[in-house]
Amino acid sequence: MREVFEVTAQDGAARIGELEVPRAGVTVETPTLMPVVNPNLITVEPSRFPEFGAEMLITNSYIINNDPDLHERAREEGLHEMLGFDGAIMTDSGSFQLAEYGEIETTTEEILQFQHDVGSDIGTPVDIPTPPDASREQAEEELATTQERLELAETVDVGDMLVNAPVQGATYPDLREEAARHAYNTDLDLFPVGAVVPMMNQYRYDDVAETVLAAKRGLGRDAPVHLFGAGHPMMFALAAALGCDLLDSAAYAIYARDDRYLTVHGTEHLDSLHYFPCECPVCTDHTPDEVERMGDAAREELLAEHNLHVSFGELRRVKQAIKSGNLMELVEARAHAHPRTLDGFRALLDHSEQLEQTDPASKDAFFYTSADSARRPEVVRHHRRLERLSPEGDVLLTEGSGNDRFDEWWNVLPPFGPYPRSLSTTYPLTAETPDRMDRAGYEAAADGVAALAEANPDTEFTLAHRGWPDSALDRVPARVETVDISAED
Ligand code: GUN
Ligand code: ZN
Repeated sequence: MREVFEVTAQDGAARIGELEVPRAGVTVETPTLMPVVNPNLITVEPSRFPEFGAEMLITNSYIINNDPDLHERAREEGLHEMLGFDGAIMTDSGSFQLAEYGEIETTTEEILQFQHDVGSDIGTPVDIPTPPDASREQAEEELATTQERLELAETVDVGDMLVNAPVQGATYPDLREEAARHAYNTDLDLFPVGAVVPMMNQYRYDDVAETVLAAKRGLGRDAPVHLFGAGHPMMFALAAALGCDLLDSAAYAIYARDDRYLTVHGTEHLDSLHYFPCECPVCTDHTPDEVERMGDAAREELLAEHNLHVSFGELRRVKQAIKSGNLMELVEARAHAHPRTLDGFRALLDHSEQLEQTDPASKDAFFYTSADSARRPEVVRHHRRLERLSPEGDVLLTEGSGNDRFDEWWNVLPPFGPYPRSLSTTYPLTAETPDRMDRAGYEAAADGVAALAEANPDTEFTLAHRGWPDSALDRVPARVETVDISAED
């Protein structure tokens, strides 16, 4: 692996990075979104992509290689001139066609050489995208083939073209992790998580989350990770939170083709829109009625333009959130707009320990916005920290004020639980939490009390709480005395 990727900011597993693409002579800021260009079906001219914010595109070298006319032009002009795009160009290999049609007529050596010859900046070998839910046997066999192809790719002389090392393994987390470790140990440069398109088409965002996090466990932090086929803006915040650095969108064009309008919450059909819920130039200059009455080509182009605007707008929002340290708030907001993204978010939270490892110690205030916030990495980290603290004597843990009868008194804040008062101005205990806390927040706080009590068996604890529900109090060890102080307010 060449050193082409540098992480410059981190929030949980998400990061802002700089990807150097030597052959294109550019450095691309990540997370980045690559519009997919089907050279036979151009909806928006690639020369216009920079208007939307695209620094990179992805196209399919297999389609170009197999079309006599495109093949000829690509060889003569090179991809950059043929497509009219100066930025970085990534090329895919035909693996997706392999997955769709069962066979293709090319090999890793041939297609990598072709990608190199037509001026691709980042090439791809012929990996095997094993579909989700394939048998373990099939997943293992196909992964072994993919691994051979990656090793073969290492031996092809492609100059300064970067090369993808796709990570396969279907829905088996241990295979994904092993595949990732193997890929990371090759000389190849970028690490797409493959065969997630069928999962995304079925909105199985929880499986996507499990799959990406498994791959991440096998990759070093300096590995740029691409989520192959992730093009719907409703999942960009989640994809970034999973630690993906590159995304690609065919959706902007495919959806436009049948009058579908992307939003950060889902997809709308043009004929159901009375108003355009968007600030982009297309949506401010036109009404849905006008667009509906246009000819097919004009309508498709405008919808594709909107789809690109909304996608790059969301990408900027995601990047700003990573810099501010509030990406989790954005993921949570997006998650709660759609039951399927909610599943993805909850699968992400199942791995809060993993996210916590790269979460900065200090950020902007933590906002508690739903019961799911109680499972965020900051809460997990606080509970672990409690196990290392040792208050002594007779200790009051209180949501109210102190009392001289005790040797020490600590504050209590759901969902975190108890904390020494000296930490009250320290992240994440500066959190904004609702006055009407939910059950999950109290229960998490009770887990914090339990962690502290278990770590300090010789200390006496009294918990002064404001009307915690029984489901929370049941999690507090019996030896902790509890007092309800809600009547005192
Ligand atoms: N495009 C979408 N998924 C895949 C994949 O798994 N491999 C390759 N090479 N391209 C893809
Ligand atoms: Zn718009």
